[in-house]
Amino acid sequence: MGGTNPSSTIGGRRAEGAGFIGQAKPVHIRLGNELDTDAPYEWLVNGVGYSPHVAIMGQAGSGKTRTMLEALKQIKEQTNVPIVLLDLGKGELADDDRLAEALNAKVLRVPTNAIPLDMFFGSNLGDESDVADTVMGFRDSFIKVISGNVGPVQKDNIKEALRPHFSSRDHITLDDVKKWLKDYYEENELRTDSVISTINDLTEWKIFSADFSPTEFFSQSWIITFAHAQDTVKNLSAYLLLDALNTWMKRLDAAPQDAQGHRALRCILAVDEARHILGSKHKALSDITATAVGLALWHGSSRIRSAWVFEPSEIRGHRGVALGQLLDC
Ligand SMILES: Nc1ncnc2c1ncn2[C@@H]1O[C@H](COP(=O)(O)OP(=O)(O)OP(=O)(O)O)[C@@H](O)[C@H]1O
Ligand SMILES: [Mg+2]
Repeated sequence: MGGTNPSSTIGGRRAEGAGFIGQAKPVHIRLGNELDTDAPYEWLVNGVGYSPHVAIMGQAGSGKTRTMLEALKQIKEQTNVPIVLLDLGKGELADDDRLAEALNAKVLRVPTNAIPLDMFFGSNLGDESDVADTVMGFRDSFIKVISGNVGPVQKDNIKEALRPHFSSRDHITLDDVKKWLKDYYEENELRTDSVISTINDLTEWKIFSADFSPTEFFSQSWIITFAHAQDTVKNLSAYLLLDALNTWMKRLDAAPQDAQGHRALRCILAVDEARHILGSKHKALSDITATAVGLALWHGSSRIRSAWVFEPSEIRGHRGVALGQLLDC
């Protein structure tokens, strides 16, 4: 089963360990039978040249969520890989005790529970480009939840306000971000605008706490639900999680492969009702899917470290396998 790998560096400096790494072996999911041949439908998650991402598509009530959960349970049984399951729908998944038990997952109900992840981990450990990546990653996620247009001057203000702090501080919270933005606006005699009002709104709740490093967080399983959260909170949380996952994965070495090239899994991100974020053109989302799929298909030397299971209604532009259409349940 999984072990830990100590090698991981940021800007040449040793950072934290790489967390869970599963055994390199084939991982199969068996789901129903194919409609035309009646043969059992089996999907290899981590073979050479296979996409590690999957989208499950279908009409309302066609069994997408149930299919996704079945796939997750099977992967969990075979690999014990950590699973981060985002429930962007009505929150039913968080109420399913048997699911939490099967996935060995802790349930988080945002904003009642804060997500215990240091979202900006490592911004102060690397070089200038690490800081810039983290600040601009946050800025772009933040801007997506601000209603109305954010102009180039406002964008620049956010970057300038946060960069010095992100380069020197760790365990940054949204309250810190609010303070730094307000200080910057005051120092530069800027008028309160949608940037300030949005961060004021968001800090009404504690969306995340910086308790766990990404390695600690993504080495265990979580079911995270946003049923009682406002859309801004839900979307920002999802974007920040994607940013943190993307940054963490970029810093890791490739997971080991077995002799046939089956890649060990590190972490699975599963999103129920993913349409809430798929339409957003979020950079971390396309980074993760584009990099892993592209390398897997065209260079044969992929650095796949995670499999994704999406349940999108709007999948255009994203690669995926329509498992739902293969099922005869
Ligand atoms: N393979 C199956 N065999 C029997 N019942 C199933 C199967 N798949 C789904 N169902 C049942 O069909 C109903 C709808 O399933 P599910 O919630 O997974 O669909 P969905 O496509 O995710 O729906 P929504 O669009 O509302 O999110 C549920 O009651 C579920 O238990
Ligand atoms: Mg569903």
